[in-house]
Amino acid sequence: MPHDPGTVKLVGAGPGAADLLTLRAARAIESAQALLYDALVCDEVVALAPAACLKIQTGKRAGRTSMKQETINRLMLRLARRGLRVVRLKGGDPSVFGRVGEEQAFLNAHGISTEVVPGVTAASAAAAQFGFPLTYRGQARRLVFATATTRDGALAETGWAADREATLALYMGRDQLSALAARLIAEGRSPHTPVMAVENAGRADARAMPGRLGALGQALAAAGCEGPVVVVVGEAAAQAPAFLNAEPALIEARS
Ligand SMILES: C[S@@+](CC[C@H](N)C(=O)[O-])C[C@H]1O[C@@H](n2cnc3c(N)ncnc32)[C@H](O)[C@@H]1O
Repeated sequence: MPHDPGTVKLVGAGPGAADLLTLRAARAIESAQALLYDALVCDEVVALAPAACLKIQTGKRAGRTSMKQETINRLMLRLARRGLRVVRLKGGDPSVFGRVGEEQAFLNAHGISTEVVPGVTAASAAAAQFGFPLTYRGQARRLVFATATTRDGALAETGWAADREATLALYMGRDQLSALAARLIAEGRSPHTPVMAVENAGRADARAMPGRLGALGQALAAAGCEGPVVVVVGEAAAQAPAFLNAEPALIEARS
C-alpha cells in the first residue's frame, strides 16, 4: 500500500537481521520521511531509510536513556501533522509486546491514520534458527506468548503454566529467569520440561541455551547474556538438535 503523507506506519523490523524484514516493511522504510526506531532495531535496517529521512532513536542504546512513551507519541503526531510519511519501527512484530495498540489509539484519537506492518517475532526467529517448532502435533497444541515481568518489573502472574501441551514463549525475562522458572514449577510445570533460551535470535551472533526448566536460571547466569533473550518452554523445544546431546551445551548460531 502506498504511504500517504501525514500518516504513520507502525512497522515490525523483525529480530535484527535485515533479510528477515518483510518486503512491505522494507518498502515503508525506504519511503519514510521520518523514522522513529527502537533500540532493538539493527543499523542495517535503519540504513534502508533515505539519506534525507529524519532518523530518531527512541530506545536505550550506547548509554542514552529511552524516550518516554508520551514523548514518542507527541513526536509522531507532530511529524505526521507536518505532512511527513512517518514510520515507527519496532523490533520483532509490533503487535507482540510492542505497544502498538497504545500508539495506534493515541494517533487515531488525534485524527492521524495508521497502518501496522507485521514482523517476525523473536520466538519464531529462535525456533527457525535453532531447529525446533513452536507447536507439534499431539504434543504442543497451544502457544502462549507471555511477558515474564509486569510494567513495574515485578514477576507477572501466570496461571497458564501447568498446561503441559502449551509451549510458552517468554519475553522480557532474562534477568529474572530463576524466579520465573521457580514460579512455573510451583504452578505445576515439571522441572524436567525442555527449555530453549535464545539470545539475539535471528542474528549472526545468536546463542541458544538448551536445558531443563529446573536448571534454567543457573544456565543463563553462567552464559552471561547481554543481548535480548527469548525463552521457549515446552516439549516442542526438545526437537532442537541441541537436545540430542546428553548434556545440552551452549550452541552458536548456524549462520
Ligand atoms: C519489548 S519486547 C519486544 C518484542 C518484539 N516486539 C518481538 O516481537 O520480538 C522485548 C523482548 O523481546 C525479546 N526479544 C526481542 N528481540 C529478540 C531477539 N532478537 N532475540 C531474543 N529475544 C528477543 C526479549 O525477550 C526482549 O526482552
